[in-house]
Amino acid sequence: MPVLPRPRGPVSAAVLDVLGGRRAAGDLPSHPDGDPLGADVQLALYCCYELHYRSFDGVADDLEWDPDLLRVRRRLEDRFLDAVRAEVEGGDDVEAAVDALLVEPTEGSGPSWHLARDGERWQLDEYVALRSIYHLKEADPQAWVIPRLDGVDGRAKASLMTVEHDEFGAGRADRVHARIYADMMAALGLHTGYGAYLDAAPAEVLATVNIMSLFGLHRRWRGASVGQFALIEITSPPGSARLVTAIERLGLPAAATAFHAEHVEADAVHEQVVRRELIAGLLEREPQLAADVVLGIQASTLLEDRFADYLVRRWSDGESALLAPVASAASGRTLRRWLVSQNG
Ligand SMILES: [Fe+2]
Ligand SMILES: [Fe+2]
Repeated sequence: MPVLPRPRGPVSAAVLDVLGGRRAAGDLPSHPDGDPLGADVQLALYCCYELHYRSFDGVADDLEWDPDLLRVRRRLEDRFLDAVRAEVEGGDDVEAAVDALLVEPTEGSGPSWHLARDGERWQLDEYVALRSIYHLKEADPQAWVIPRLDGVDGRAKASLMTVEHDEFGAGRADRVHARIYADMMAALGLHTGYGAYLDAAPAEVLATVNIMSLFGLHRRWRGASVGQFALIEITSPPGSARLVTAIERLGLPAAATAFHAEHVEADAVHEQVVRRELIAGLLEREPQLAADVVLGIQASTLLEDRFADYLVRRWSDGESALLAPVASAASGRTLRRWLVSQNG
């Protein structure tokens, strides 16, 4: 099981003390503050959410539903959502929000563009290590939406399940997307352990995963969760194709390209299912959720853009994007040693 991460400030320290059994949950601060998009709050939220997934080594299972932890989580969620909503346009025009995702620039500046063009091996390693925070639980946050969708008038539910079925391997353990991701990490010599790179993940990475957990765990946000899922599926094929180019250009083995190659193909189909059946089916049944679908798309786009900007900024300064003892190291070789040293 993953070990508890290192705290990043007073809020995450308090939550981690509770998870580690060093503090009673009743002693948590009633009004935790700090930058809602910053590392301290994002790590605290991430750890609260993780209790609903695979949790951490040595943490009592009962803490998942501890009312004091839930109270703190709720307070952090409110502040996180307020911060995100202040930055997005909003509205209820789902078609326009989806159409905006379909426009691909001819020359982009995000990490997949950089990696495809002239990214170096250590940058690919960093990208894969940081993305593992999500991909080793790929499609899990969206699974919480399933029981919130109508099974009798089941257009949305059936289509969500079609996509989730593929994400979870369509009956084959070796085809579960989290597993294909782990196989890629192994091919790169990275640690495949769940949460192995949590201490290296900056706030920008944690926020992209936390928004999925937040939307997934609250029935109230089922429309936003569907919007967030749509964003992933619609934007995935071109970005995945660029990563295949990057990995091939670096001369890495086929096992290293399999994950992204799979997403070029599968997500081209998923995109259609999500747009024509999932979103359309949800809104046919619950038209009042249109603004939430838009929020899901815009919130995730905002947080993905923040992550992309962070990565590209660090790399263009010649710096590692990882938070780790090696974060200030100048050479890719040192970073690579650290990434690989986590492997065992
Ligand atoms: Fe996938
Ligand atoms: Fe997919």
